[in-house]
Amino acid sequence: MLPGDGIGPEVTAEAVRVLAAVADLYGYRIATQEYPIGAAAVRLLGEALPARTRDAVLEADAVLLGAVGDPALADATGSRRPEAGLLALRKLLGVYANLRPVSVHPALRHASPLKPDRLDNVDLLIVRELTGGLYYGEPRGRDAQSAVNTLRYSVAEIERVARVAFQAARERRGLVTSVDKANVLEVSQLWRETVSWIGGDYPDVRLEHLYVDFAAMRLIANPASFDVLLTENLFGDILSDEAAVLTGSLGLLPSASIGDGPGLFEPVHGSAPDIAGRGVANPIGAIGSAAMLLRYGLQLPDAADLVEQAIAAVVDAGGRTADIALPGEPTLTIGEMGEEIAQRVASRILSHQSSANALQAIPSSRPPTTSLG
Ligand code: IPM
Ligand code: MN
Repeated sequence: MLPGDGIGPEVTAEAVRVLAAVADLYGYRIATQEYPIGAAAVRLLGEALPARTRDAVLEADAVLLGAVGDPALADATGSRRPEAGLLALRKLLGVYANLRPVSVHPALRHASPLKPDRLDNVDLLIVRELTGGLYYGEPRGRDAQSAVNTLRYSVAEIERVARVAFQAARERRGLVTSVDKANVLEVSQLWRETVSWIGGDYPDVRLEHLYVDFAAMRLIANPASFDVLLTENLFGDILSDEAAVLTGSLGLLPSASIGDGPGLFEPVHGSAPDIAGRGVANPIGAIGSAAMLLRYGLQLPDAADLVEQAIAAVVDAGGRTADIALPGEPTLTIGEMGEEIAQRVASRILSHQSSANALQAIPSSRPPTTSLG
């Protein structure tokens, strides 16, 4: 657990609460340990990704992160920059594919600024390349009069993330939309050629290529037209915040970053220092990330489904944090929202209609040995 900065500790605490409910229900033991990252780590140890955190994440089965970033350190440089800790963590774990699912809960269509009919059937997965591109390219730097960053991708880097996208599309609706700027950038031309070539291995998946400017427009004009959206690092960063608008709140979006070692699971939202410590943040992005941790990090798909169903059930039943409430609607604190979801997990009561049966339907699992801790 890397709680990090701002609302990070609050949202990860709720994710832990839900993981504990999962562990109790199924009789699993999920051991967790906390380590510092971001501005919290700079304050404690002078750097954003300290050695003890680096060692610990490499030993873990999965890493759950809250958020990093602190306006007080906005001018920090080098390893004291909170965001540098996150980028170094992604690189250390080698998590080259970042999965950001975006769907619109029917009860929350009012929360999006888009017209409700645009939101019908929106269910897309952004697959963002996470350990290359402008974020990491060398040379980089600045002097008083100029600055440089480098956009570089190898065929191997493009191939491995493209395969993740094609595999995902196979289990979804069979469409990959690859995003680039091939009308201007050589890197994008290589991206397009490589993705097309890899697509040959997936004849059952349809592939289309869009320029990033047009993709940004279509994401608002016709979001239901996307299934899997494959992008390089920076384009994916931008398009995923745009896609969050469809759902009504950035606080709802989970993500999973996967590679060859332990996965990294983090809500898409940032540290939100303006609301930190006030108990009003939305824990659903972090709890959804815990569900993805169960699915991709611990290979527990049933537990992951249960957590996702519990989130949906609470939202269905009218549970709202401030960011997704209509004016005048009663709101839950972050702790109340976490507790509602944990209780639904514990009792497997996922909807009003089925609650009586759901209680009886609990199979006699092994008695809970240890709760999370
Ligand atoms: C995200 C964030 C990060 C990114 C920042 C905090 C470095 O915006 O995960 O989308 O740009 O990748
Ligand atoms: Mn971002």
